[in-house]
Amino acid sequence: MWRYANPVAIHWGDDWTPLLRSLLPPGQGLLISHPQFQVASAAGLLEGVPAYSGIETNPTPGQVQQAIDAARPIRPDWILAVGGGSVLDTAKIVRLALACGRFDIRELLQSEPAEAGARLPLLIAVPTTHGTGAELTMWTTVWDRESGRKLSLSHPRNYPDIAAYCPPLTYGLPLSVSIATTLDALAHALESLWNRNGNPVSDELALAAVSSIFTSLELLADPVPPAARKELLRASMFAGLAFANTRTAAAHSISYPLTLRLGIPHGIACAMTLPALWRINAPRMPAKAERLRRLLGGEDMSTALERKLHFVSTRVPFTLSAYGAGPADLEALARESRTKGRMENNLVELDQADVLAILAAIL
Ligand SMILES: [Fe+2]
Repeated sequence: MWRYANPVAIHWGDDWTPLLRSLLPPGQGLLISHPQFQVASAAGLLEGVPAYSGIETNPTPGQVQQAIDAARPIRPDWILAVGGGSVLDTAKIVRLALACGRFDIRELLQSEPAEAGARLPLLIAVPTTHGTGAELTMWTTVWDRESGRKLSLSHPRNYPDIAAYCPPLTYGLPLSVSIATTLDALAHALESLWNRNGNPVSDELALAAVSSIFTSLELLADPVPPAARKELLRASMFAGLAFANTRTAAAHSISYPLTLRLGIPHGIACAMTLPALWRINAPRMPAKAERLRRLLGGEDMSTALERKLHFVSTRVPFTLSAYGAGPADLEALARESRTKGRMENNLVELDQADVLAILAAIL
């Protein structure tokens, strides 16, 4: 028995102004965007719309609280969120806070916002990176660096209403962010494949995403061809649709302390363990491994993955020691790697000794 569903309406347009014009409803709006988003590029469509752009990468509870506080007096009918995963995640939680009238982020994260049955402001999520898939999921990640904990809010009312894709919005993405977010999408797709919640729909979406990413990853060099951006945005969307249903698994679970403790960008932290996790999980899914081999032109996935990640390692730091970790840190990183709702999705069960061995191999 299986089920696949995603309630987010998908819009795609190669031209930003007509796309935006087709999406914006009447009523009071609020723009939540990355600081570098050019409002001027919206051809006057956002004139007079209050804007908030104080969100940093991997937002803390304090930063999300500031966004909630800024949005509260505006009482928007709709929210347009334009940015990467941190911006989109923040917009999702702001929208939920407004709908259920809980304006304290700590209280919101600790409670089940069942009363979010109240009318939600319409949320239009526009990703400007090709990786996080936050525009298609019902969860939000908040990073509590003080306590070293990743906090998460997951609720069916947390899905955006609309995901709007416009490839030219990704053209200016710096190379390091482009690589990291592409690797995040790759991890979403692979983790959706070696996932206990997988189903035939998520499998097909994930296979398409892996194949597209492998075709375009090595085109991430200055300047990135627009066609590659478009392909990677499409791959990120497919990967997002896949893991929005299955959730992620061991690579994401292991990645969280790497990001919290060592500051490793999310996508990089997720991708470092993919080769080891492929070797562990592949024997449990021979039909999917064979499909991937055929999609990769006959090359074994393990070899292809190592080759792609070698390309990555010549462009961004790709070992734990490059981010300041030493052998003495591995024990604590392994201990903190078990994220509830992620690790247990992995096809093969991993214990702490397994994780320690995986981390030692990427030191
Ligand atoms: Fe991710």
